Formats: sequence, C-alpha cells, structure tokens
Amino acid sequence: MSNGYRAGVMRATALAAVLAVFGAPVMADEIFYVSGAVGNAVENFKAYVKPWEEKTGNTVTLVPMPASTTDQFAQYRLWLAAGSTDIDLYQTDVIWAPQLADQFVDLTAAAKDLVPTEFPSIVESQTVGGKLVALPIFTDAPALYYRKDLLDKYKVAVPTTWDELTAAAKTIQDGEKAANPDFWGFVWQGNAYEGLTCDALEWVKSFGGGQIVEADGSISINNPKAVKALETAKGWVGTISPEGVLAYQEEEARGVWQTGNAAFMRNWPYAYGLGNGDDSKVKGLFGVTTLPVGAAGDTSAATLGGWNVAVSKYSKHQDAAVSLALWLAGPEVQKMRALNESNLPTIQSLYDDADIAAKQPIIPQWKNVFLNAVPRPSAPTLTKYSEVSAKFFNAVHETLAGNGSAADNLAALEADLTDLKGDGWK
Ligand code: GLC
Repeated sequence: MSNGYRAGVMRATALAAVLAVFGAPVMADEIFYVSGAVGNAVENFKAYVKPWEEKTGNTVTLVPMPASTTDQFAQYRLWLAAGSTDIDLYQTDVIWAPQLADQFVDLTAAAKDLVPTEFPSIVESQTVGGKLVALPIFTDAPALYYRKDLLDKYKVAVPTTWDELTAAAKTIQDGEKAANPDFWGFVWQGNAYEGLTCDALEWVKSFGGGQIVEADGSISINNPKAVKALETAKGWVGTISPEGVLAYQEEEARGVWQTGNAAFMRNWPYAYGLGNGDDSKVKGLFGVTTLPVGAAGDTSAATLGGWNVAVSKYSKHQDAAVSLALWLAGPEVQKMRALNESNLPTIQSLYDDADIAAKQPIIPQWKNVFLNAVPRPSAPTLTKYSEVSAKFFNAVHETLAGNGSAADNLAALEADLTDLKGDGWK
C-alpha cells in the first residue's frame, strides 16, 4: 500500500461551530470513512451521506481505497493495529468480522431497531462472540451474465453446466472474432486476490468438491472433484477467456463485457445496473442466470459476498460515527444503493419494494440466490482466514497459469493448510 493513502487521511482541523438544540455551542464533527469502490460507488456515496450531513451539521470525507478487498484488508489491519484515530468508519467485507472484531465498537444496542428488519443470516455473519461488529449495507451473490442477442444469433441455449457454457462461449466467440478480434467467450476474475477465492469456490462447490475448509474446520480441498473443477477452468484460459483474465478483477471483466466484447461474464449484481446504463454497449441486450453446475445433479454455487460498516474503537467521534453507520445501513440509503448501484439490500422489506423491482429486476430475482449462497470459510478458520484464502487463491492462480497440475497444487495446498491449522481455527 502506498504512503499516499496514509498522507491522504490527515485530518483537517477546521470544524464549524453549530448551535445545539438547547443553545449550547457544540462543534460539528468531520468524519472520515474509508472504502474501496467499484463502478460509481464513490460518486454515489456523496449523495448517500448528504441528508445525514444536513441533519447533523457534521461532514463526511470518503477516503477511497483500491478496489481489491485483499489490498484494503492489508491496509486496514495496519491502521487498526496502530490504533489510528484518522479513520472513524471502515467499510468492511463480509469475511472480515472474525479477524477485526476486537478493533470495532459493539453496535448491538445502537442497532436494536434495525436488526429485526434484516435477514438474520447476514446479521449473524457480522456477530462475533455476541458482539455486533459491523452493520450490513448490502449483500452480494454473483450471476452469470449472458448476451441474449448473441445466444439467439447462434441458436445457443442458456448454459446450465460448465461444459455447456464452454461450448456456447466457443461457438459465439468463433463466430464473432472474425469481425471483432477483441471478442471473448467468457470473462471472470482470475487475478491472485480474494475475488479468485470467490470464483474458484464456485467452481469447486458446483462440481461437488466442497468448500475448501468445511464448517467443522476440516480441510476438504484436496479431492478429485476440486481437481476436475480447476482443470475445467484452466481449459478456458487462452481459449474462451483471454490470457489476461489472470490479471482481471471485477472491473476489468466488466470493462470487456460492457464494451460488448464478451458473450458471458461472471460478476456481482453491481454490474447489472451499470450494464443497462446509457453509456453501455450491452444496454438491454443481456440476461442473468445462476452460475452453471459441474454435471447434471450438482448444485449451482454462488459465493456469498457483501459489505458492512464498522466503527473504529479508536475514533474520537464515536457518537457521530455510530449515527452515520446507522444511516448508511438503514432503509433510505439501502434503497438508494439498490436503485443506483443494483446492490442487494439486507433489509427484508426492500425485496417487495415496487420502485426497486421496476428499476433493478435482478434484486427480487436474486433474493433466493443470496439466501442460498455459499460462505467462504471465514467462520471456521477465524483469525487465519486471510492466510487460508491467500493460499487457496495462489494455488488456483498457479494452476490456471500452468505452474503445476491441479492435483499437485491442491495436494500441496492441503499440506500448507494443515500446517496453518491450529490456534484460532475451529
Ligand atoms: C465483492 C464481494 C466481496 C468479495 C469481493 C471479492 O465485492 O461483495 O464479499 O470479497 O467481491 O472481490
């Protein structure tokens, strides 16, 4: 992480004085919120906090971070370990709660009216040892995006197995590439980062190969179905997917897709609204379905994602920070996020909201997908999760890049995870 990010969060000093309700002068707070972003999240954030700023007299500064959750986590862990008072609120990934729980304020009491409106499983994911570590702001579960017009043109059905997807992508790519050399069959997230953990967990799980580490803490990744899943994905690199997919995160995949250069894409719901934007070449041309399965009889797997807001224990503005967290997690902002960014709400009633259904139909359509989504093994591996994930995505990345076979790399991964298992792992 560059020092530029640290330099960028020097707290400004000028604070405006406002009159409190009872006439006593109080100082308005300047609140610092740190978040990574994809799509238009940074611009939209200003609109989300404006009503709260107007109501409270406080101001909010967004400190933008890299899009990669892996990079964000590394930086946040340093700030928190140093007890930094520069950041009041952190936007946190669904998988981080067990690792950062000690550094955040317990929001149980503050959120007592909000929690009953939420899906219990999401609140549970942010609860560590009875402490509510962060408030959910949106949840995430990926889709297979497909070009309806191109499926029609080549008379190809929406694929339900990975083999069908491979064949369909090849047919369309073979047909389109002559006129458009930049065209690819399938784009996804192949960079060595947390996003690859998500994609690869979906391949493995949908081939019946387990969840890397199971809920009871046992290491399951070294098995023939997982090997088959990784071999299948390896077969895409340089055929239906560009070699460059090994450096793609969400935004690179969306870039290829949204310029009309891919038949299929694996991505999160945020790409739905953007894909239908006025500047998108695929506006109105695509559909979404669940990710394919290994073979008939297997179950589709969508990795559970999602983002939350947490208040730093080291914040010097805790009351204001908690108030802002409640606002960002509450129904007004969740609805704005759903409409503007096609983010999946965590508040149950928003799935029956007519405005949301009309503007972003993926949201009601995706309720059951996220409710059945597969969690990454952050609960069983507790404080070891980021190391487990890094070992997994590196083993997968090596396999996709042709450095070692899937079988050898998964056997080595099992040995590494066995060494890592111990204190702080269920
Ligand atoms: C999405 C998910 C998040 C996940 C990330 C991986 O942002 O919401 O949970 O870790 O993608 O790139």
